[in-house]
Amino acid sequence: MTFIPTALLVTGGAGFIGSNFIHSFIDNNPECMIINLDCLTYAGNLKNLTALEGNPKYRFVKGDIGDATLVARLLADHRIDAVVHFAAESHVDRSITGPEIFVRTNVLGTQILLEESRKYWQSGVVADFRYLQISTDEVYGSLGDTGYFTEETPLAANSPYSASKAGADLLVRAYHETFGMPTLNTRCSNNYGPYHFPEKLIPLLIHNVINKQPLPVYGDGLNIRDWLHVRDHAMAIETVLKNANPGSIYNIGGNNEWKNIDIVNLVCDLLDARLGRPVGESRALITFVKDRPGHDRRYAIDASRLKADLGWSPAYTFEQGIAETIDWYLANQDWTAEVASGAYREYYQNQYGGGVA
Ligand code: NAD
Ligand code: DAU
Repeated sequence: MTFIPTALLVTGGAGFIGSNFIHSFIDNNPECMIINLDCLTYAGNLKNLTALEGNPKYRFVKGDIGDATLVARLLADHRIDAVVHFAAESHVDRSITGPEIFVRTNVLGTQILLEESRKYWQSGVVADFRYLQISTDEVYGSLGDTGYFTEETPLAANSPYSASKAGADLLVRAYHETFGMPTLNTRCSNNYGPYHFPEKLIPLLIHNVINKQPLPVYGDGLNIRDWLHVRDHAMAIETVLKNANPGSIYNIGGNNEWKNIDIVNLVCDLLDARLGRPVGESRALITFVKDRPGHDRRYAIDASRLKADLGWSPAYTFEQGIAETIDWYLANQDWTAEVASGAYREYYQNQYGGGVA
């Protein structure tokens, strides 16, 4: 039977995927209340959500998922019937130089959110409840030249980031097995699209091509990633939330593998055409740099279970999605400039006076 949430607690909704999910979910479910709990790390940007200011069905709360008292209050005050947990440290490179915060946020933060959700769910305030953990294909480790990650692939995380996400996924499993909590777990491939923080490959490339800066390619550039438009990810999450059986795990992916170097060349060529630059000009900015330690070679998701059980498949072709994404960054250069300058950090202070909204 379809589960129709009436009040969602979204964590990390000021980040890339969380903000895209909130826009998509509100468009599709205008009657559902959304509480966005985000502590605004460097990756949180309220400019991603300005279109929702004044919407009575949306409220931003500045706070940490590790604050058990705050989480308990939000669940009870808003009679939350679903938690969709995006909040995380998400960048692999940062997890190599500073792993501790990844464990604190992604493992311990998730455990606190799970525990408060369990107590609230067991109190019976709401008739039905879901907890949805947003995870990543990186928990499965790395593939060789062939094969795909399925939901049965053993967890074999290789970076501190993916290890912390795998730890969180196991806690979610434990809360379902031990307490019978109605949890869901999705594992998605690499996303791209609007509001993507320009430390990640695709927005970094777009920003650097526009500004004629070097384009760093790690190692030999032949690592493979499986790219999905963020709005397709958002629809997959909504589909799982409403239709999946508690306890289930679903892979999400677009069957869209690219070698990094091919993505770099594509972004260069699409931008050269739009910027009226000579063919091949931006490719000259490509700079091969030292490889990322422990760099996973290939990711490729088998999302056939999601299609077979729940009927989801991506709406975007990659050709359309990447073209729209490049056009979005060209039309929103002030967004990237504010991220680069740090001005986006002041927006919360000016808009909300720094207090909990
Ligand atoms: P992001 O880094 O853009 O956003 C993370 C958000 O979480 C930020 O707004 C940040 O302020 C917030 N946050 C961090 N710590 C917090 C805390 N302790 N309390 C409250 N808020 C906190 O990340 P993203 O790329 O949007 O990824 C979102 C989720 O999706 C993550 O769980 C990530 O592991 C997962 N994921 C990402 C991808 C991808 O390609 N980006 C793919 C698959 C899964
Ligand atoms: O697969 C899902 C994961 O995708 C998510 O769980 C992560 O949160 C998300 O950050 C992303 O991880 P990746 O490490 O795959 O993404 P990133 O954009 O950092 O890198 C993509 C590929 O490009 C990877 O092989 C490393 C390479 N790369 C990255 C950067 C930033 C470069 O060659 N040069 C770069 O400057």
